[in-house]
Amino acid sequence: MAEGKTAKGNKGERALFSGKMGFVLAAAASAVGLGNMWRFPYLAARYGGGSFLIVYIILVITFGFALMIAETALGRLTRKSVIGAYSHFGKKFAFIGVLAALVPIIITPYYCLIGGWVTKYMVSYLTMPASALAADGFFGSFVTSTSGETFLWLGIFIAIVVLVISLGVKNGIERVNKVLMPMLIVMAVGVFIYAMTLEGALDGLKYYLVPDFSKISVNLVVAAMGQMFFSLSLAMGIMVTYGSYFKKDDDLEKSVRRIEIFDTGIAILAGLMIIPAAVAVTGSPDAVAGNAGPGLMFGILPSVFADLGGAGRIVGFIFFALVFFAALTSAISLFETCVSIFCDGAKISRAKSIAICTGLIMVLAIVCNLGYNAWIGLDPMYSLFGIGEYQSMQILDFMDFISNTILMPIVALLTCIFVGWIIKPKKIADEVRESSKFRSEKLFNVMIKFIAPIFTILILVFYVLNTIGAIVL
Ligand code: ALA
Repeated sequence: MAEGKTAKGNKGERALFSGKMGFVLAAAASAVGLGNMWRFPYLAARYGGGSFLIVYIILVITFGFALMIAETALGRLTRKSVIGAYSHFGKKFAFIGVLAALVPIIITPYYCLIGGWVTKYMVSYLTMPASALAADGFFGSFVTSTSGETFLWLGIFIAIVVLVISLGVKNGIERVNKVLMPMLIVMAVGVFIYAMTLEGALDGLKYYLVPDFSKISVNLVVAAMGQMFFSLSLAMGIMVTYGSYFKKDDDLEKSVRRIEIFDTGIAILAGLMIIPAAVAVTGSPDAVAGNAGPGLMFGILPSVFADLGGAGRIVGFIFFALVFFAALTSAISLFETCVSIFCDGAKISRAKSIAICTGLIMVLAIVCNLGYNAWIGLDPMYSLFGIGEYQSMQILDFMDFISNTILMPIVALLTCIFVGWIIKPKKIADEVRESSKFRSEKLFNVMIKFIAPIFTILILVFYVLNTIGAIVL
């Protein structure tokens, strides 16, 4: 994080990003990751394509914008990471930071598990023909295998993350991203163009881009909202922490807009690349919607690459290598947030905190992984709460559900109430104005005070009622 410059923080000197690009780069590196490449396409495929896309975009430019401004300004104002930033205004508000801190502790384990899958695919393109990776059931037998292979890849991914964090080469990795991100975009465009030549892909494109408003449901909105937080790294402490390293005289509003455009652009592109191809491979949008889940990226893209013949191996390797780097930088920011929480919260050294986090994340990630193989069939939602609708929920889905559907909306809601009604939006607006005019101040005020909190409460209430069967929406 340190770029050689410091500012007077509340506890002394604090390292700063080297200007707007330093912040945009680091925040974009955190934002762009598996959320865009892996999670967004399967959710869009599952929840009606274009209907999901439109709800998602509206949420990003309204709610997401307001929350990102609030979180980064809060960080810059207090010069503290998430728990400290809230308790800066009174010890009684620390619980919001604690809840936000819980989110990366839940997400990082399953994020690393998927990171392990990506690593396996990247390496396998070097050792196997592309057709072998595209064979029917390849992905399924890999994740359900009890041979320990998935544990090995998970261990490798976590080891790389921990190594980067311990060696402090994070900045270097983020700079590498500056080159790799444009490459990822070019590759994704190339794969999209190629996928469009497949029979049936046009139906997939229509499904993805043309909204069918009859498909908008409370479950879709909840999923889009959770995805927005996940993808933009909001409601999980990351943006508060990154904001705390942001220089006073750099345009905060413009930076936030840039991150949003970049992150959303990549997510849309990932959907363009995967959904038409998925429809071409499975035969219909309904088949895709019915089956889309965490395995979508791993099942569909290898079929596309295998069609490329000999070049498929190279394309497959480069593609998964780029996704690997995007996942790595995000995993680092998630892991780093966990480390700083333990450092600050338990007042222990960074080395001890890294050791504790590694152990904790490893154990939780193993539990997640067991849900796919040794413990297959165990449905946490059903066994814990007796809710039958989720009988096919895996442990990974369950952790994703608890963090994205429950905790993040609650953290976002509390942040809105905290900023909108306790410290007041003017405090944030003044912070934004330290560096530039606050062009969207009116939008920010209305969103943070009224629309975002009311919307979140309504959507959560409807969601719970819908889930327990009290209403049908
Ligand atoms: N924001 C990160 C991602 O999208 C966590 O992968």
